[in-house]
Amino acid sequence: MSAHGMSRNLVSYGDAGFSRFLRNAFLAAAGYGTEELSRPVVGIADLSSDYNPCHRQMGELVENVKRGVLAAGGIPFVFPTTSLGESFLNPTAMLYRNMLAMETEELIRAQPMDAAVLLGGCDKTVPAQLMAAAVSDIPVILDVVGPMLTSSWRGERLGACTDCRRFWARYRAGDLNEDEIGDVEVNLASTSGTCMVMGTASTMASVTEALGMMLPGGATPPSPSGERLRHGTATGHRAVELAREPVLPRDILTAEAFENALHVLAALGGSTNAVVHLLAVARRARVALTLDDFDRVSRETPLLVDLKPSGTRYMEDFHRAGGVRVLLKSLEAVLHIDHVGVAGRPLGEQLADVAPPAGWQDVIRTTGNPLGPPGALAVLRGSLAPGGAVIKASAASPELLTHEGPALVFDSPEDAARRLADPDLDVSEDHVLVLRNAGPVAAGMPEAGSLPIPKRLAAAGVRDMVRVSDARMSGTSYGTVVLHCTPESAVGGPLGLVRDGDRVRLDVPARRVDLLVDAEELGRRRELWRAPELPVRGWRRLYAETVLPASLGADLDFL
Ligand code: FES
Repeated sequence: MSAHGMSRNLVSYGDAGFSRFLRNAFLAAAGYGTEELSRPVVGIADLSSDYNPCHRQMGELVENVKRGVLAAGGIPFVFPTTSLGESFLNPTAMLYRNMLAMETEELIRAQPMDAAVLLGGCDKTVPAQLMAAAVSDIPVILDVVGPMLTSSWRGERLGACTDCRRFWARYRAGDLNEDEIGDVEVNLASTSGTCMVMGTASTMASVTEALGMMLPGGATPPSPSGERLRHGTATGHRAVELAREPVLPRDILTAEAFENALHVLAALGGSTNAVVHLLAVARRARVALTLDDFDRVSRETPLLVDLKPSGTRYMEDFHRAGGVRVLLKSLEAVLHIDHVGVAGRPLGEQLADVAPPAGWQDVIRTTGNPLGPPGALAVLRGSLAPGGAVIKASAASPELLTHEGPALVFDSPEDAARRLADPDLDVSEDHVLVLRNAGPVAAGMPEAGSLPIPKRLAAAGVRDMVRVSDARMSGTSYGTVVLHCTPESAVGGPLGLVRDGDRVRLDVPARRVDLLVDAEELGRRRELWRAPELPVRGWRRLYAETVLPASLGADLDFL
């Protein structure tokens, strides 16, 4: 019989009996008795950190998960991992997603536990935990801290962070003064929890529920609610059952699970970041998911959920309307309903007692009465992105989805920030803003792709322009923004060859983004091109040397 509980993963002293004896001695010092230690051990990853205000109620959630574990006859062991607060990591939390994934994988593998509960929330935490879960040899179940509640300013409802960008754009354009933007600042994130629009955190929570890696109903309860805590308790309880069964993540993260998740992502008008994250999780789960699958499913699936930035509402509205379960009910006809997740029941059985979207509510729509057409997420190819690029068409300006204009090129996010704030910048609203050296190798792929509208044009009322880059953008952003161009400029991708004034054509209906410069001229430019220098040392060096392209999930090649 294989080892379980505290007899798992003994320290290698060359004497297993001594290793357990020593471990028992330290556990006794911590107050544990023999009976307790014979129970299933559930490790609970706690991502509390003062540098992550989105997680400020995680301690309370941890306590509820522990209660669930104890009530089910298990014993909880809480362990910390790195916490990634989206607005607290330079140059971008994305640079550390793979570090958290690796850390979580190793701590599950090295420490004694029969099952693991991974508690996340803020953008990069859940993808990292899914990546770790995908390669785990014990059962894993995820839960999240839940979204913030909305606030208001002068009677207008406010939420992070689509409204952060909207109000900042108004301030930049001179619509708001210092006092007014200061008032907005203290009202945008009014409670604990993650951004309450369909940004990356909400998207990844919803997608995790759709994958079957979270108990049903877990993606949407607001962070301050009792329902959030009760879901944590149920998660702890279920983790003990999984430890006894046991069902492994690789049994759950199947091709069918990803297909279901892609339908949910498309119907949500979810974050473009989910494309990179799901590709990374699928690669680890050995599921052959490609960019083309996102485009295919998106073409089949209309926009059904009215949440910012694609729509107008917030997560608490989505929750009141029934959340992911009601959305899944709406999509039931195209889902793999025999898929079984951590709940242990086929999806179809779970949905049997869920009512479809009712006439009284318009937050979650039926496929017969969608909010928008299929194609919320589109995958583009063309001479600017031979390996693929992504656009959130549902959050773009319809009149710009087909556009041709002259390029205005920025060599880095810093270059863009400096010049776009210059009121004398020579630019028209027809220009296509091109940002390079912002891909995974060059910069860790920051959320710099939704370049601000040049200050002079913003002041004149221009709200959107075509932007093209190898960067990402926040899931809370909006606009006609082509992202993740692959191969990225730092490894010789065509973005590195663009010059000011070159014609660029975007044609989303045809799924194309092209640089209209002849091959001979591009060949001449390529001979002059020089790769940027890589970071000199540490994690950033390892990352730059081993990170895969965005089209493969931007994981490290050895993971
Ligand atoms: Fe943490 Fe948005 S900043 S979820």
